[in-house]
Amino acid sequence: MNAKPGLFSELANRSNPSTGMHPLLIMLLFIYFSQAINARDTITPSHPLTDNETLVSADGRFALGFFTPGSSNNSYIGLWYNAITDKTPIWVANRKDPVKNSTGVLSISGNGNLLITDQNSTVAWSSGVTNVTNPVAQLLNSGNLVVRDANFSDGEFAWQGFDYPTDTLIAGMKMGVDFVTGLNRTLTAWTSESDPSPSQYYALLDIHGDPQLALCSGSKMVYRAGPWNGLRYSGIPGTVTYYGFNFSFINNKKEISYSFNTIPSVLSKLAVNQSGVLQRSLWVQDSELWNIIWYAPMDQCDYMPPCGPFATCNPNNSPICDCIQGFKPKSPNKWMYRDATDGCVRKTRLDCNNGTDGFLVLPNTKLADTSNVTVDMSLSMDECRVKCLSTCSCTAYAPADVRNGGSGCIIWTHELTDLKMFTSDVYGQEFYVRLAAADLGQSSTIARKSKKWIYILVIILGFMLLILACVGGLIWRRRKRRRTRAVEEVNTIFHDRSNQGFVSGNDLELSQGSDLELPLLDLSTVAFATDNFSDANKLGEGGFGPVFKGKLGNGQEIAVKRLSKTSVQGLVEFKNEVLLIAKLQHRNLVRLLASCIEGEERILIYEYMPNKSLDYFLFEKSEDQVLDWQTRFKIIMGIARGLLYLHQDSRLRIIHRDLKASNVLLDEVMNPKISDFGMARIFCGDEAVGNTMKVVGTFGYMSPEYAMDGIFSQKSDVFSFGVLVLEIITGKKNRGVYLAAPHTNLLDHVWNLWKEGISLQLVDESMGCSYSMNEVMGCIKVGLLCVQNHPADRPFMSSVLLMLSGDHALLPNPKEPGFAMRDGVPCQTESSSSKRNSSPSYDMSATLIEGR
Ligand SMILES: *[C@@H]1O[C@H](CO)[C@@H](O)[C@H](O)[C@H]1NC(C)=O
Ligand SMILES: *[C@@H]1O[C@H](CO)[C@@H](O)[C@H](O)[C@H]1NC(C)=O
Ligand SMILES: *[C@@H]1O[C@H](CO)[C@@H](O)[C@H](O)[C@H]1NC(C)=O
Ligand SMILES: *[C@@H]1O[C@H](CO)[C@@H](O)[C@H](O)[C@H]1NC(C)=O
Ligand SMILES: *[C@@H]1O[C@H](CO)[C@@H](O)[C@H](O)[C@H]1NC(C)=O
Ligand SMILES: *[C@@H]1O[C@H](CO)[C@@H](O)[C@H](O)[C@H]1NC(C)=O
Ligand SMILES: *[C@@H]1O[C@H](CO)[C@@H](O)[C@H](O)[C@H]1NC(C)=O
Ligand SMILES: *[C@@H]1O[C@H](CO)[C@@H](O)[C@H](O)[C@H]1NC(C)=O
Ligand SMILES: *[C@@H]1O[C@H](CO)[C@@H](O)[C@H](O)[C@H]1NC(C)=O
Ligand SMILES: *[C@@H]1O[C@H](CO)[C@@H](O)[C@H](O)[C@H]1NC(C)=O
Ligand SMILES: *[C@@H]1O[C@H](CO)[C@@H](O)[C@H](O)[C@H]1NC(C)=O
Repeated sequence: MNAKPGLFSELANRSNPSTGMHPLLIMLLFIYFSQAINARDTITPSHPLTDNETLVSADGRFALGFFTPGSSNNSYIGLWYNAITDKTPIWVANRKDPVKNSTGVLSISGNGNLLITDQNSTVAWSSGVTNVTNPVAQLLNSGNLVVRDANFSDGEFAWQGFDYPTDTLIAGMKMGVDFVTGLNRTLTAWTSESDPSPSQYYALLDIHGDPQLALCSGSKMVYRAGPWNGLRYSGIPGTVTYYGFNFSFINNKKEISYSFNTIPSVLSKLAVNQSGVLQRSLWVQDSELWNIIWYAPMDQCDYMPPCGPFATCNPNNSPICDCIQGFKPKSPNKWMYRDATDGCVRKTRLDCNNGTDGFLVLPNTKLADTSNVTVDMSLSMDECRVKCLSTCSCTAYAPADVRNGGSGCIIWTHELTDLKMFTSDVYGQEFYVRLAAADLGQSSTIARKSKKWIYILVIILGFMLLILACVGGLIWRRRKRRRTRAVEEVNTIFHDRSNQGFVSGNDLELSQGSDLELPLLDLSTVAFATDNFSDANKLGEGGFGPVFKGKLGNGQEIAVKRLSKTSVQGLVEFKNEVLLIAKLQHRNLVRLLASCIEGEERILIYEYMPNKSLDYFLFEKSEDQVLDWQTRFKIIMGIARGLLYLHQDSRLRIIHRDLKASNVLLDEVMNPKISDFGMARIFCGDEAVGNTMKVVGTFGYMSPEYAMDGIFSQKSDVFSFGVLVLEIITGKKNRGVYLAAPHTNLLDHVWNLWKEGISLQLVDESMGCSYSMNEVMGCIKVGLLCVQNHPADRPFMSSVLLMLSGDHALLPNPKEPGFAMRDGVPCQTESSSSKRNSSPSYDMSATLIEGR
């Protein structure tokens, strides 16, 4: 970045008198010096700075002069890095007082007042300092424009530009409050590209409590980087690891300020950009770009305050908000529907006087809001702990300085808000939350108790493990036979895949060859086969378009899916996608036989299933179509195998995203086949796991994290599978959460009966008594395991298959399902989610019509 000094020093080294000098070098040297001679770094009363000139600092790093931003006609005095290609001003003297429609002049008056005037000598801006006797203005090597007495080169500055930062903090510049001079240095964003005047976004040091770096919009705080902990701001990851930096945070009676310095070869800035984002960037000479190394707000947890008091926020979790251990949601119903703004309350009251309270250590946190805390730097960590215990209102404590094992004492006496959890311990710091003894888990106390306890525990644990191993060994022997059966089940899936070579020769023209080329049919052929898409041939209306029955010339029956025209894909992508999906072949997936792409038409042609879809058998019970338990179990296993293939074994790793009874078709022997797989890919691109702004799916089958946050993964399919299993067992439809009548929520119902141990009441009456109680109980438990609220708790499909075929007594107990309703209060999905600025847009229309 310091190209010129670098060049200069190199040339100077080479121009050793003993070596001959190359003419080119002499020329370059001449250019360098002529520039250096032309550019000056001072303004005196007799020598002002005109529109066509710039001041350049002595080392050439910085330049100062008039500039006209963007499309505006106003001119401003700005400061920029002279030696790099990006000349965007980092400091503006007269951001509010431009010179309009005219060229300007920067001058200094005889008494030291810096003035910016227009052609007519009308003053647009002045620095306001008028008591300097022999004044000179100078651009220092730091980039600071200062006014001082020329006779005292080391004297104090009468005025300096660094006291009035614009939107950018550069090395050596301070932000914060100076109580002696009354300066309050903030970083305020430009209004627009062509207007440097201050906008509503600014970053400041909030000096209340333990001072914190904060970002505001108007009078509202939108982000809090937390207090300075000796190494970094509590909420900013890894600041100390930057190469070539040192940081300074001063907090005393005279000033509270923050600044940083870098070695000369590192160029960095901290700025608030025009969208109100605070970002630190580093100049990368090779790419000639500012590289943003950190910015905020970055994730959902950064927007104040996402989770309410006594809750923690972790952007990698779903839901992001969680109560601190020992706390429970204050409004459970709102909480269930991801409105965590009310926060959490204690399970057990603190026992102040008896002194039995303890502390829970939360590692890797951004400290809770410190704007209303007390800080005592003289205390050690142990003293801090004692102080908190002896203060009845104390809710938490933390070290004010994390260096050398922690010192200083921050005491919270109010609600703990805006507590963020980091996943890596490079970030964040320990936070000690006070809890009643009853709420303290073993885990938090172990750390505090002496090591003796750990040894005793290890010995006890070892002993227990030994006993367990013996018992386990016995059980294992007895179960061995069953296990092998379960493993065989899974093996069949792999077997299936390797067997996909090819199939039924009676598919005639459609299953041409084993090279898996997918035939393309003419629109006319398809139209003819379906009698011009006549209503009489319509089988149903799926989420992605209507489905028709058709018959080809050779008599083969087909199902024709005419896709609605909302696909985001272009023609080529669509073709590729369809080809890929055609290669997915599994006994439990409906086979894609051909496609038809003509003009706007996108049509997929599937094998025809003479039996209808599963929902018909489950929910529209007619006397002659009762599914017995054996069939139902076979269907559950089949769906599980199909889903496992999609998730793990196929080359595409597909997440279905709309698994439901009407998407499971049955063949002649009631073998289930999943349909509409790959649709999510066709319609939404091929993100494997991720976050989508457009939620496709069906209420009742959608997992909470997908419906509420738009986060989908294999575990969202597992949730849908769980719902399906429970529907198959009960023969009742899960209405989801959109209906007001609480008793229609199947998950809730199953969960309640299961808790009471009477879940066999759930079994579809039409099955009579022809079922294995053991298998049914096992399936109910697996179903409940699949619909647990937290995705991480739900099993993967591979485990689900093993669970279904193993012994249900060995299964873990499920936790409460997602979307269970407490007190029968229906939710208001819309209102609770619309509060969140990242809530996905709902696209239910497609699937809600599908009321078969
Ligand atoms: C800048 O412009 C002024 C008149 O506006 C002129 O007198 C002066 O010579 C110019 N300086 C340079 C370096 O071009
Ligand atoms: C700038 O000046 C030009 C011509 O003098 C004028 O057309 C234009 O509207 C002005 N722009 C602004 C933003 O005032
Ligand atoms: C500057 O120019 C614009 C458009 O040309 C005009 O509207 C405005 O009044 C001018 N301002 C001054 C101070 O002359
Ligand atoms: C300068 O003064 C003249 C005459 O008073 C006026 O016409 C012109 O608009 C002024 N220029 C500016 C930039 O104010
Ligand atoms: C100039 O005035 C300021 C107050 O406006 C004062 O703080 C400062 O000491 C004065 N400097 C000198 C050299 O008198
Ligand atoms: C110092 O200041 C005095 C008057 O205040 C002035 O006469 C003198 O020239 C100055 N010296 C320098 C080196 O500027
Ligand atoms: C500093 O200025 C900001 C923005 O105007 C304001 O919110 C803050 O309260 C000020 N701080 C002090 C200590 O005056
Ligand atoms: C950073 O390092 C420099 C040089 O080692 C030192 O002068 C300075 O005081 C340190 N601290 C700050 C905040 O610049
Ligand atoms: C501000 O920074 C954020 C994050 O780097 C970026 O997404 C946004 O586009 C920037 N805004 C502007 C106006 O440059
Ligand atoms: C504290 O001790 C008193 C008497 O020793 C007892 O009545 C009270 O229940 C105790 N409080 C708690 C929270 O344990
Ligand atoms: C801050 O603390 C004081 C007493 O310490 C209390 O009266 C006040 O309500 C608190 N403010 C907030 C916003 O919690």
